Amino acid sequence: MQTLHNAAALRAAVSGWRAAGQTVALVPTMGNLHAGHYALVELARARGAGRVVVSLFVNPTQFGPGEDFERYPRTLAQDQAGLAGHGCDALFAPDVAAMYPFGPQRSVSIHVPHLTGVLEGAHRPGHFDGVATVVCKLLNLAQPDLAVFGQKDFQQLLVVQRMVRDLALPVRIVAAPTVRADDGLALSSRNQYLSPQERALAPRIHATLRQMREQLAQGQPRATVEQAAAAELASAGFAPDYVAIRRADDLTEPAEGQRAGLVALIAARLGATRLIDNMLLD
Ligand code: PAF
Repeated sequence: MQTLHNAAALRAAVSGWRAAGQTVALVPTMGNLHAGHYALVELARARGAGRVVVSLFVNPTQFGPGEDFERYPRTLAQDQAGLAGHGCDALFAPDVAAMYPFGPQRSVSIHVPHLTGVLEGAHRPGHFDGVATVVCKLLNLAQPDLAVFGQKDFQQLLVVQRMVRDLALPVRIVAAPTVRADDGLALSSRNQYLSPQERALAPRIHATLRQMREQLAQGQPRATVEQAAAAELASAGFAPDYVAIRRADDLTEPAEGQRAGLVALIAARLGATRLIDNMLLD
């Protein structure tokens, strides 16, 4: 596996593969890789990629003031070793200047309206502009046939799908199921911020999503299900940012009685750590 640090090297590698008729996949990450990321690489292969590029870039424009940009775990050597053992062909690890030649503050910025004003977008203003901008740049640099994103960041997946469709970017977006620990906690690089006590409590989020799914299937009103779940999480020691049941295609509020095409989403703080998770309710 090669590690590439600039756009020219990435373009040269990808155009060589494409000239040889190989399908190329991009898996965008911020590094500190775990089994969830390696599953994205494996899914890329399963969906026909002959070559897989993983990008590793802790993107400053998607972090707000006071968020964890500075302390976000940076583990390049460990990530290189892990990727080499999981069938990755190239790791693209640019620096900030390579991704933002005019500086992050002066960058062209991509705003995906509507989808980004709610849930994560409401609690992390500007976050999805940073995500859409860096993903668009990465897609332009790598020019992959397909790109894989985890469903754990459900709203991010919708934002990327919408951007790709609206800008007619020539790439297929593949959604990968969330990978969980045995106790149900969705794998995330941020889980390592949790204390042992918090880690023991964290699977409650997944358990709550399952409970919401059951209650909704039993016919309980959506608002009651949301409120009960938020209250339970709060009494267990979480500080929920939102507990919501939304339409899975555009995150708008469903009509009362709608039961198909829904997703339950939770974001909650546990101590200093903010956790998100979701569950499709069909
Ligand atoms: O999901 C992530 O790790 C990031 O938001 C992404 C898609 C790599 C963009 O920086």
